[in-house]
Amino acid sequence: MANHIPREFIQLLLGRIELVDLIDGRVPLRKKSANNYFACCPFHTEKSASFSVSQNKQFYYCFGCGAHGNAIDFLMQYDRLEFPEAVETLARQAGMEVPRTAGAISRPAVSNHLYELLESAAKYYQQQLKQSSTAIDYLKKRGLSGEIAKQFGLGFAPPGWDSLSEALGKTASLKQQLGDAGMLVKKDDGGYYDRFRERIMFPIRDRRGRLIGFGGRILETGEPKYLNSPETPIFQKGHELYGFYEAQQANRTLPRVLIVEGYMDVIALFQHGVTYAMATLGTATTATHLQRLFRHTAEIVFCFDGDSAGRTAAFRALLVTLPIMQDDVQVRFLFLPDNEDPDSLIRKEGRDAFENRIQNAVTLSHFFFQSLSAQSDLTSMDGRARFIKLATEHIHQMPENIFRQMMLDELAKRARTDIKQLHPQKTKQKHFIPAKQKARPPSTLRLAMTLLVQQPSLAHLIDKPLPLMELRGYDLLQKIVESIRVHPDLTTGGLLEYFRDQEDVTTLSKLAQTEHMIPEDGIQHEFLGAISRLRKVGHEQLIERLIAKASQTALSQEEKMQLDELIRAK
Ligand code: UTP
Ligand code: MN
Repeated sequence: MANHIPREFIQLLLGRIELVDLIDGRVPLRKKSANNYFACCPFHTEKSASFSVSQNKQFYYCFGCGAHGNAIDFLMQYDRLEFPEAVETLARQAGMEVPRTAGAISRPAVSNHLYELLESAAKYYQQQLKQSSTAIDYLKKRGLSGEIAKQFGLGFAPPGWDSLSEALGKTASLKQQLGDAGMLVKKDDGGYYDRFRERIMFPIRDRRGRLIGFGGRILETGEPKYLNSPETPIFQKGHELYGFYEAQQANRTLPRVLIVEGYMDVIALFQHGVTYAMATLGTATTATHLQRLFRHTAEIVFCFDGDSAGRTAAFRALLVTLPIMQDDVQVRFLFLPDNEDPDSLIRKEGRDAFENRIQNAVTLSHFFFQSLSAQSDLTSMDGRARFIKLATEHIHQMPENIFRQMMLDELAKRARTDIKQLHPQKTKQKHFIPAKQKARPPSTLRLAMTLLVQQPSLAHLIDKPLPLMELRGYDLLQKIVESIRVHPDLTTGGLLEYFRDQEDVTTLSKLAQTEHMIPEDGIQHEFLGAISRLRKVGHEQLIERLIAKASQTALSQEEKMQLDELIRAK
């Protein structure tokens, strides 16, 4: 998710924002020590205060749920903003204007226009609906109330090839814009025709309520049953969920979200009081969908057909979920009886019975193990081995957390094997320092990095360039030192910002949260000690390399001198 906001600006901005004030304005903080504040965590429910904010580091961290980050992250999490919005908000607060690169300047202007254009299309379709008794009858037949039709802004695209085109596309430029918005289709001869004809129109809004596209259902039968707006600069199907905005409008908070397949499911559920359903737009659920959703809810219930196609689709959704399963969220699966969809079911049995089904939906772990055991014969040793292999492959996609641990425990139980057989792999995988290194260098590297991340100014104490060496994770230390050289005033929060969207950010935020137990006045000493031990390792490696080389070819004069010096220094 690259942004078009220059990195330099973001660092400048973070330098002007005081994280303690920013958070205190939303979550009253209490002072713990000179530079540390705390409160009950706003990101999970708790009675004792585990949420801490460090003024030095410009970094917050919750010991309870692991929420952490800098000022931008806080706004993203607390105010549920996207990255650029969070930057905008902070900039406004700091009285700064967000500079944009060329690519980004033109986009908002064009987009604003597209949103307005779609709004006028929606209005047009709504007027058309009022005048079409066929369309009104169809909606009535499907059991929709006039009230719900209004709430979701339903409309009707009249028959004919150029109704919308004539109503809104008065000039060539307007026609072209309607084309860009996906409402008109360009003909070979350069003219345009209406994309949506004789269809019930469902306006699709983004989370902020802006109109970004339409779905159109044919009256009665025909192909395709549903036609959706194509992807446009403002409409990306893999990001948006139908009904999200309406659900947010209807509920102050969303403790739970139900993901269903269709437009009509969302609306029927809503009409019957289940106001937290949303639908993907003719695509499978994506990680982006889920990541966005988990900023607003702690529980997602997927709704699928109970048949084998439904179960396959559900397992696919499960696999998308695994890498983002944090400990504080829950995912469950609701399978529907044959030949029913949420629309038909809620009409038949009403809200209570339907919500009862939701209540009894199977948990992610249950569905996971159930699906996998169906593929292997657990009565044989071979079968159990296969089962373990399949399951661990998937479980290793999960973030390292308690839930993952529990999945491994459950796997061991089900495969009737010793849990220890399953865990070593887990710790080996993420460790960035190979085990064959002597015990000392890894912990030294880790210590150096931890201290540096938590107190970036330490980098200025490094007086000579760091030596080259082969040690896994060492390049990250070098990267950190470099970024601090570029921005000498970097705080922990600023440093993490530097690495946003990079793979290393996970390691860095872990280091930022590590309790190193070194007293304040010992930190410099420890850091310099670690750096000098690392230098020694680097020198030893160099000596070994030179000696190995010398055994094959003659060393150059320069290399000989270097080797000499290194050995003497030792
Ligand atoms: P369904 O065919 O299950 O329709 O498609 P439905 O929601 O039950 O529709 P009704 O009740 O007959 O009106 C589910 C979803 O799949 C997408 C749409 O988003 C639809 O809501 N879809 C379906 C399409 O995009 N195109 C199609 O041709 C069919
Ligand atoms: Mn249906």
